[in-house]
Amino acid sequence: MNRKAIHIKSFGCQMNKLDTALVAASLKDSGFSIAENENDAIAVLINTCSVRDRAEGKVFSHLGNLKRIKRSKPELVVAVFGCMAQRLGKELLEHEAVDIVCGPGQIPQLTKLVAEAIEGKKQILAVTEKIRTESAENPELEKFESVYDRSDAQIPGQAYVRVMRGCNNFCSYCIVPYVRGPEVSRAPELIIEQVKRLAGKGVKLVTLLGQAVNAYQYTDGGKEYCLADLLYSISEIDGIEWIRFVTSYPYSRYYDEILAAMRDCEKVCGYLHMPAQSGSDRILKAMNRKYTAGEYLEMLDKAKEVVPNLAAVGDFIVGFAGETDEEFEATVELVEKAKYRNCFVFQYSPRPGTKAEERLQDTVAAEVKRARNIELLAVQERVSDELAKEFLGKEIKVLVEGPSKKPFLNSGDGVQLVGRTAGDWIAIFNGDEKLAGEFVTVKVTRVSPLTLFGEL
Ligand code: SAH
Ligand code: SF4
Ligand code: F3S
Repeated sequence: MNRKAIHIKSFGCQMNKLDTALVAASLKDSGFSIAENENDAIAVLINTCSVRDRAEGKVFSHLGNLKRIKRSKPELVVAVFGCMAQRLGKELLEHEAVDIVCGPGQIPQLTKLVAEAIEGKKQILAVTEKIRTESAENPELEKFESVYDRSDAQIPGQAYVRVMRGCNNFCSYCIVPYVRGPEVSRAPELIIEQVKRLAGKGVKLVTLLGQAVNAYQYTDGGKEYCLADLLYSISEIDGIEWIRFVTSYPYSRYYDEILAAMRDCEKVCGYLHMPAQSGSDRILKAMNRKYTAGEYLEMLDKAKEVVPNLAAVGDFIVGFAGETDEEFEATVELVEKAKYRNCFVFQYSPRPGTKAEERLQDTVAAEVKRARNIELLAVQERVSDELAKEFLGKEIKVLVEGPSKKPFLNSGDGVQLVGRTAGDWIAIFNGDEKLAGEFVTVKVTRVSPLTLFGEL
C-alpha cells in the first residue's frame, strides 16, 4: 500500500465535481498522489450528495464495503465529505468505516485532516455548525477556490468556475440550502482573474456554476454587478471561446439583461438549463417555486426569441407530494410545449428537515413515480428526436472531450471520439485522440434522440 496515494470517489452535481477537483489539487500540492485504484490507497475520500435518498444509499453501500476492507487493513483512512457529510455530521462519524466527516464549507482543511488521520488521529468532525446563520462569508474557501482552480479530474480544455455558493430559494423539497448554506456571490474581479488564469492554462470552455446562477449579484463601489456583467467581461478574455452557466432559476430579475448578453456575446453558448420542476400551478406552489407554468413558458419563449438556436434543458420532479394524474398530465403538456433539447427527470424523494418532508405526505406510490418518470422521458425523447433531425447533413462546431467511454459500433479510421456542441448536444465521430480539448467541425450523418453521429 502506498502511504501517499489517495483515492477519491465523487457522487454528485457539478458543484460537487468542482469540489473534488479542488481537493485533488490540494492533496497533490501536499505531496500526495491520486490513485485510480482504491486497493493501492492509504485513504479513500468520498464526495457525497444528499439531494435524493438514493444518492445517500449508494454511499452507505460503499461504506459497507469499506468497513469489511478495513477489518483486514485497519490503517486505511476513510473520509466522507460534501453535502451528506454536512447533513449527517456526527451520525456519519459513528459508522464503523468512517474516520473523517467534512462538510462542503470545510474542504480547505481536508488535506490536513487526511494527513492527521494517516498519522493515527481518528474520529474527525469538520462541519459548519449553524449553517444558515453563521457568517456566509468564508475567506478560507474563497482562498482555496482561487489557488486550486485546475486539476486532472476535469476534461481537457474545460473548467468549472463557481460564481456563487449556497442557495436562498428554499424550494420545499430541496436539501441544498441546508447543506450548502446561504447564497453568497463571489467578487467579479476574483472570478475574472480566475478565468484569465484558466485561459492561460489552455481552458477554452468555462462553465459558471451556481445553484441559481442567474441570482448572481455583487455590489462594489456603488456599482451592482449581475450575471450579464460577468458574461460580457469573460467574453473579453483571450483564449476563452465558449462560456456556459448553470443552473438558472426562472427569475424575472436580470432575465432580459442575461438574454441580451447571450445574444450579443458570440462566446456565450446558446444553452439555458432552466428547471421548471412541474407543469401544475398547484404543485409549483406546494414546491415553493415562485412562478406559474404559464409564466415559465413565456420566459422560455422569450429566450428562444432573443437567442437564436437556443438549446433549453429542464429538470422535473415527478410524484411530488399529492401529485394527481391530472397534475402530472400538466407536466407532460409543459414538456411537449417547451421543446427542450433534453430533460432530467427525478422521482420525488422526501428529504429530512425540508418543509415538504415535514408538512406534506409522500402520497404517490413508488411504482406510480416510476411510471410517470418513464412516460415523461418518452415524451421528451420524441421532442429530442425531432430536434436532433434538424442537424442531419449540417456541419457543427464541436469541442472534443476525448475517446468515447462506451464506443458505439465503430466504422472508419481512428478512435471513436466524443465531444459537445455549444448547445451541449453529444457528438460522436472518428478521429485522432490528440484532438481532445480542440474544436473541430463535424458533418452530421446520423442522429439518435440525444446524440449526433458524424464525420470530421
Ligand atoms: N440548484 C439547481 C439544482 C438543484 S438539485 C436548481 O435549482 O436547478 C438538481 C435537481 O434535483 C433539481 O432541479 C430537482 O429537479 C431535483 N431534486 C431536488 N430535490 C429533490 C428531491 N427531494 N427529490 C427529487 N428530486 C429532487
Ligand atoms: Fe434547491 Fe431550489 Fe435552491 Fe435549486 S433553487 S438548489 S432546487 S432550493
Ligand atoms: Fe450537489 Fe447533491 Fe449537494 S446536488 S449541491 S451534491 S446535495
